[in-house]
Order: sequence, then C-alpha cells, then structure tokens
Amino acid sequence: MSKIMKNLVRLIGITAFFCLALSMFFSSCGTSGKDARSYLKADDTPTPTANTNSQPAASAPAGDKTIPETFTLCKDSLSEYGETAFNHANHAFKNYSPDGKSVMGCVECHHTDQPKSALKPPYVTSERDVVMTNDVWKASSQKVSNCRTCHFQDGNVPDGKTMPVATVTDAGKTGSKEINNEVAYHVNCNTCHDAAFKLRPELKSKPGFSTSKDCTICHKSQ
Ligand code: HEC
Ligand code: HEC
Ligand code: HEC
Ligand code: HEC
Repeated sequence: MSKIMKNLVRLIGITAFFCLALSMFFSSCGTSGKDARSYLKADDTPTPTANTNSQPAASAPAGDKTIPETFTLCKDSLSEYGETAFNHANHAFKNYSPDGKSVMGCVECHHTDQPKSALKPPYVTSERDVVMTNDVWKASSQKVSNCRTCHFQDGNVPDGKTMPVATVTDAGKTGSKEINNEVAYHVNCNTCHDAAFKLRPELKSKPGFSTSKDCTICHKSQ
C-alpha cells in the first residue's frame, strides 16, 4: 500500500514537472488528462511522462494508441488444434468477469504490467511500476509485451531464453511448473470461462463461448 502511495506521489510529481516545463511553450497544459497530450502532433516524439519505469521504455508510435479489436491467436499451432478467435475489445472493456457484472482489468491477463507489490502468487515477475489501466497505457510509451514474448511454444525456446516457471500448489503439493504458451493461455482463458459457465450455464448457448473441454469450439481444427 505504502509503495503504491509512493509511486502515486512520484507520478504526480513527475507529471507536474512536465506540465510546468511544457507550459513554458504551450498554454494548453494542465487541463484534463486527455487534453494534456493534445500538444502532441503526429511528428512529435512522445514525452516520457506518466509512468515511472525503471527499465528503458520501448517506444510505441506517437499518437497511434489503439489496440486492435480482435486477434487471431494460435495461427502457428504445431498441433491439429489451430486458430482461436479472441475479441480483445469485449474482454478489455465490457462486463466479462465470470459473473458478468464488471470489467476485469488489464492485469487479469497482462499480469506483468503491474508493480511487484501488487502481484499475488504464483506471480512474481513485474515489467511496469504502476498497475496498467487503459489510461495508464494511453499515457505511457512503454509497450505491452505479447504473451508469447515469454511463454514460448515447446521446442521453440530462443537461444539464451528460458521457459517461465511458476511455483504452484496443486492438491496440497507445492512444486514448480513450466508455463509454455499452451499452459499460459489455457490457465488464463479457461479458468475464467469455466467459472463463468458455473455461475451462468446459459452462456453455453452463446456462439463461440467455450469451457475448457470444448477444444474445437475455441480452436479451429487444421
Ligand atoms: C478458450 C479457448 C481455448 C480452449 C477451450 C482450448 N484452447 Fe488450446 N489454446 C488456446 C490458445 C489461445 C492457445 C495459445 C495460442 C498461441 O500461443 O498463440 C492454445 C494452445 C493450444 C495448444 C498449443 C498449440 C501450439 O502448437 O502452440 C494445444 C496443443 C492446444 N491448445 C490444445 C487444446 C486442447 C486439446 C483443448 C481442449 C482440451 C484446448 N486446447 C482448449 C485456446 C483454447
Ligand atoms: C515478461 C514475460 C511475460 C509476459 C509478457 C507474460 N508472462 Fe505469463 N508468466 C511469466 C512468468 C515468468 C510466469 C511465472 C510466474 C512469475 O514469474 O510471475 C508467468 C506465469 C503465468 C501464468 C500462471 C500459470 C499458473 O499455472 O498459474 C499464466 C496463466 C500466465 N503467465 C499467462 C500469461 C498471459 C495470458 C500473458 C499475456 C496476456 C502472459 N502470461 C504474459 C512471464 C510472462
Ligand atoms: C482477457 C485477457 C486480456 C485483457 C483483459 C486485456 N488484454 Fe490486452 N491482450 C490480450 C491478448 C491475448 C493480446 C494479444 C497479443 C498476445 O497474445 O499477447 C493482447 C494484446 C494487447 C495489446 C497489443 C500488444 C501488441 O503490441 O501486440 C495491447 C496494447 C493491450 N493488449 C493492452 C491492453 C490494455 C490496455 C488492457 C486493459 C484496458 C488489456 N489489454 C486487457 C489479452 C488481454
Ligand atoms: C476473467 C474472465 C475471462 C478471461 C480471462 C477470458 N475470457 Fe473469454 N469470455 C469471458 C466471458 C464472461 C465470456 C462471455 C461473455 C458474455 O457473453 O456475456 C467470454 C467469451 C469469449 C468468447 C466468445 C466471443 C465473445 O467475445 O464473447 C471467446 C471466443 C473467448 N471468450 C475467448 C477467450 C480467450 C481466447 C481468452 C484468453 C486469451 C479469454 N477468452 C479469456 C470471460 C473471460
């Protein structure tokens, strides 16, 4: 909690500093969060503001801050379980919690985009100093890593990299487990879908919705 407060204070301080500096050139700074970036022209480079990353931020193209609405995952499947459709806009912005009553929050999936202090087991790896929300993402030049940046396919681990390992407790036993792409996405997508189905069995009639056992509803066979 105190770390979050400290980060908040630091963030406000840094934002204030940039506002001050920029207001020497532009008179429009210091209004709302959205307007604060209106000084950015397409050919300007983004100002290193809001986030306080300790790591160098990979830069995203300035002014191009939209997330594709949909993704096709598993295009390069090594098995007969092929492509899976994923509507990012639905999952990120609509009431897609298991009970259908709330928006889940970016870090439900992008688990490394939050400070270490916010992580719960088995998660320990952090790539961002603040909890990512849509506003945080928009104001930051730090990229969101794809899941596959870390969760490799079996047999496709690049030289010099290692497969992520998580310490998990299963049936009272604690051990470590390798999290390849299959495990990562299955645990993420299916745990929630199974919980949603338990609470709302009627979801089964929704086109495209799958429980963990409905392999070929989620995957197109190939
Ligand atoms: C909610 C949708 C969903 C369901 C249900 C699902 N999967 Fe997957 N599966 C995925 C996603 C997403 C990936 C990883 C895609 C990526 O890495 O791009 C994946 C990856 C895989 C892979 C690894 C493919 C590769 O070579 O990288 C296999 C094999 C697989 N799933 C088999 C299954 C089987 C068998 C079932 C049923 C028991 C199943 N899946 C159920 C979404 C699903
Ligand atoms: C920067 C690397 C990185 C990225 C990006 C990343 N992960 Fe992970 N993931 C890890 C590591 C490392 C672990 C093991 C625990 C830890 O260190 O936090 C892990 C653990 C997990 C687990 C826990 C598995 C379990 O058995 O409980 C899931 C699920 C998961 N990741 C899903 C995802 C998904 C989905 C994405 C993309 C939206 C993603 N990860 C992006 C590195 C990453
Ligand atoms: C249900 C899981 C889930 C939620 C919730 C979610 N994302 Fe994603 N996001 C993904 C997946 C899966 C991808 C596809 C790329 C990949 O496989 O890593 C992705 C891709 C992205 C990308 C593109 C990365 C790139 O450069 O290819 C951005 C940016 C992003 N998400 C930001 C967000 C933000 C901001 C939020 C919250 C408002 C959010 N996401 C919520 C799962 C999720
Ligand atoms: C925290 C919960 C949660 C996570 C994580 C999640 N989903 Fe979903 N998903 C839902 C819910 C709830 C629905 C049904 C929403 C409704 O119809 O009200 C759904 C619906 C879907 C549908 C049906 C079409 C649509 O967009 O409504 C697909 C396909 C799907 N999810 C794929 C995925 C994949 C692939 C992943 C992992 C990358 C994933 N989901 C992760 C909760 C989740």
